Amino acid sequence: MTDFDCTPQVDLEFMNAEHRKAFDDANQIKRLLEIGKTDLSLVEKRIDRCLDKLLADTENHFYLEEKYMEQYQFPAREKHRLEHHQFLRAMNIECRLWQSTHNLAAAERLERYIDKDFPQWLVNHIVTMDTVTATYIARHGGSAL
Ligand SMILES: [Fe+2]
Ligand SMILES: [Fe+2]
Repeated sequence: MTDFDCTPQVDLEFMNAEHRKAFDDANQIKRLLEIGKTDLSLVEKRIDRCLDKLLADTENHFYLEEKYMEQYQFPAREKHRLEHHQFLRAMNIECRLWQSTHNLAAAERLERYIDKDFPQWLVNHIVTMDTVTATYIARHGGSAL
């Protein structure tokens, strides 16, 4: 499990809340994949629903950051938006691969994604782009967000 409490916090509370949600969503999928090792058919529908939630939460998370970057005219907002866009595209591919097959190989691939690629990208994004963005917005009057 990736522990949100071990991830550095940024200067805006709404962003920390979105990041916690992302780790919670991913950890829930991990738990289901673990149960699925005995019998995948027991959990495939629940994994589908959790992936839909992860996607929806991620879209909302990025939407909120992008809205505030625009409002506060964060200088590197285009670069930050592009990182979100690329990550969401890759996440959509992973979700579709699982949802269109529901087999063991797809479960193993999904587990690698949820266990490794997803948290690695997220932590790296939080300590770089999100940290700089949050500091900028907080310093320019967005401290209550
Ligand atoms: Fe973020
Ligand atoms: Fe971000």
